[in-house]
Amino acid sequence: MGDLMAEVETVLIAEDQLQQRISELGSQISRDYAGRAPLLVGVLKGAVMFMVDLIRRIDLPLEVDFMAVSSYGSSTESTGVVRILKDLDRAIDGRDVLVVEDIVDTGLTLRYIVENLRDRSPASVRICALLHKRKARQTAPPLDYVGFEIPDQFVVGYGLDYAEQFRNLPFVGVLRPEAYRGP
Ligand code: IMP
Ligand code: MG
Repeated sequence: MGDLMAEVETVLIAEDQLQQRISELGSQISRDYAGRAPLLVGVLKGAVMFMVDLIRRIDLPLEVDFMAVSSYGSSTESTGVVRILKDLDRAIDGRDVLVVEDIVDTGLTLRYIVENLRDRSPASVRICALLHKRKARQTAPPLDYVGFEIPDQFVVGYGLDYAEQFRNLPFVGVLRPEAYRGP
């Protein structure tokens, strides 16, 4: 990771902290959904790392599906424009849906996804976000499970990208200012 690490200014959440917290979330979800078989819906691509680690910590029969929506592109500011690029493979009527998201910033993306899923007659829709930016956001829907509250900074790693790079870092960190080159 030499070349990648050279671009990282600070490690905000270390690998073992991530894994410890995800294990706690998995236990909590296993208790809350006891006797049920939830459908976990990951939001591509950022939530992939979180999803694969989280489901290994959930002791329930469960299913996994993914949605892809348009996001920031290469910029670091939310546009509020949301478009479904990949929809769920199956219907969700009567299912207990748990949306798995990497990070909630403005929450506009998530709000759109949750409203869209609620229109499909699921039994329930809840949200599990790994990261939540601390700055108050009235646009975000209520979050049922949150891994970490973080400062209002642009972060990368553990699935999160800047211009599609840095998703493979095993921790969440902040880049050096020089790393933000043009697309
Ligand atoms: P929103 O502002 O909550 O709608 O954020 C939409 C999406 O932008 C998130 O699901 C992430 O994929 C991405 N995003 C938001 N903040 C960050 C960040 O700090 N780093 C990397 N991606 C981010
Ligand atoms: Mg995302």
